[in-house]
Amino acid sequence: VVLGLFVEFGSSYKLILIKENLTWSEAMRYCRQNHVDLVSVHSEEIDRRVMNVVKRASTAAVWLGLHNYCSMNMWLWLSGEIVCYQNWAPGNGTTPENCSLEKRKGAVQSGGDQRWISLPESHKLSFICSRY
Ligand SMILES: *[C@@H]1O[C@H](CO)[C@@H](O)[C@H](O)[C@H]1NC(C)=O
Ligand SMILES: *[C@@H]1O[C@H](CO)[C@@H](O)[C@H](O)[C@H]1NC(C)=O
Ligand SMILES: *[C@@H]1O[C@H](CO)[C@@H](O)[C@H](O)[C@H]1NC(C)=O
Repeated sequence: VVLGLFVEFGSSYKLILIKENLTWSEAMRYCRQNHVDLVSVHSEEIDRRVMNVVKRASTAAVWLGLHNYCSMNMWLWLSGEIVCYQNWAPGNGTTPENCSLEKRKGAVQSGGDQRWISLPESHKLSFICSRY
């Protein structure tokens, strides 16, 4: 059941905030079934729009389509691209993760300076789907 969503228009790449609290994998499945995918933030422009949309979230952070490929010490977008443009909170994203712990995914803080943070994938957060 979708309890709330906010559709951001203004471009052909639409961002939709889904206010359900799901794990990263559940969120990805939801986006793929109902929209296109969890959002990939390749540019400052999309990041600005993400910041605008997440202000309405009820969780402190919101899932992005960002996953950690631990053995390679790399972060990738679900679209397959390497992270070039980035907006990590200090200490997040840049230091290698512990590969013997739970896998890490990327989220954006919904308040404060709205930087990206690395979280264990079982955290339940709101999330942003993309749609063309
Ligand atoms: C999601 O979690 C937040 C923070 O814990 C809570 O305030 C909100 O009511 C939850 N939303 C749903 C739909 O369960
Ligand atoms: C990631 O960022 C958060 C929020 O600023 C901070 O609390 C946390 O300590 C950072 N993680 C690491 C490993 O530094
Ligand atoms: C990674 O986590 C494991 C299990 O908690 C721990 O034993 C190990 O010391 C950690 N490794 C690093 C590099 O922190």
